Amino acid sequence: MTDGGPTPGSRTPLVDPQGRRIVYLRLSLTDRCNFRCSYCSPGLETAHGDALQRPDIRRLVAVFAEAGIRRVRLTGGEPTLRRDIVEIVSDLHATPGIEEIALTTNGHRLEELAVPLRRAGLRQLNVSLDTFDGERLERLSGRGADVERIRRGIAAAASAGYPSLKVNTVVLRDVNSGELGDLSRFAWRHGAIARFIELMPFGGGEPVSVVEMQRLLEEQGVRLEPDATRGWGPARHMRGTSVDGGREVHGLLGFIGAITENFCGDCNRVRVSAAGALRACLGGRDEVPLAPLLRSGTDEEIEAAIREGLSRKRDRHHMEEESFETMVRIGG
Ligand code: GTP
Ligand code: 5AD
Ligand code: SF4
Repeated sequence: MTDGGPTPGSRTPLVDPQGRRIVYLRLSLTDRCNFRCSYCSPGLETAHGDALQRPDIRRLVAVFAEAGIRRVRLTGGEPTLRRDIVEIVSDLHATPGIEEIALTTNGHRLEELAVPLRRAGLRQLNVSLDTFDGERLERLSGRGADVERIRRGIAAAASAGYPSLKVNTVVLRDVNSGELGDLSRFAWRHGAIARFIELMPFGGGEPVSVVEMQRLLEEQGVRLEPDATRGWGPARHMRGTSVDGGREVHGLLGFIGAITENFCGDCNRVRVSAAGALRACLGGRDEVPLAPLLRSGTDEEIEAAIREGLSRKRDRHHMEEESFETMVRIGG
């Protein structure tokens, strides 16, 4: 940091051309992944690797925090493939201005990492689980994906005392659309929010709209009522009631409908890709490289590049009309 620089957040806040205040950074730590989910990394040849090293990440997040970023979600690829993941979380936890540290994972390494990550300061954990059927998961996500291992990871996270735990499911017609009730009850048993995500056009598969997901849930034994909970992310919530093991059970469900329920008007976030570039919108190609500045630039130059990228942020995505490179490069 610049000696004698301003205190965190005292600079002009990050605001985009639409006047949206940006407080949430999604930081991709790597584009490596041990899964090959068809909707995320179709035909991915070789990963670029980890462009940002731990000191770069520490510095970059400090610059973002000075400009008003309050929450960082670590994404990938699979962020837990970084050997220094626990240390990175500790660094972020020690960064003035950062109030929440979150991570999205495929759960493969969670059984061993749930406690160390929580101790390092991670508070919010989202774990992807698309199906309970082992063969189906292998077809969807490749040979590396093991349902039992992910289930053990989620159980470990539930015991580790995370203030927020969520189970993320991308809903695919005729693949897992019959499992939404079971996935909800499983999430609630672990004190987690069940989240159902509309497929975005980054790979194969047939999408199911949020309205249809809700109809399927009712058919699969989950009664839904409106709920006003709002988090940092794009999910809209419902309160669910079901029967599990002969008992009435309740829990929250989150729905992310990027295509049929566009939420861009409430956008509060930017991304840094695994290659170390600022990406103002998930559904846009525009990027500003930050990695070279982290090697040879000043904090002021890095902040200026962030503001330049943000000045080009569009009002909304146009995923309905465009197709995109793989999600695995951007981090969702
Ligand atoms: P919470 O803050 O815990 O609600 O998480 P999140 O929904 O922000 O993050 P997560 O990594 O769990 O992502 C869940 C889904 O939301 C993924 O499919 C993401 O790609 C999608 N998502 C997150 N942010 C955006 C966004 O800005 N635009 C779009 N279109 N999708 C997003
Ligand atoms: N559409 C919607 N969500 C996706 N994810 C990955 N690819 C897609 C896609 N094409 C989700 C993952 C994970 C989160 C980071 O993004 O399942 O939960
Ligand atoms: Fe924001 Fe772009 Fe996501 Fe829309 S698609 S919510 S504008 S990042």
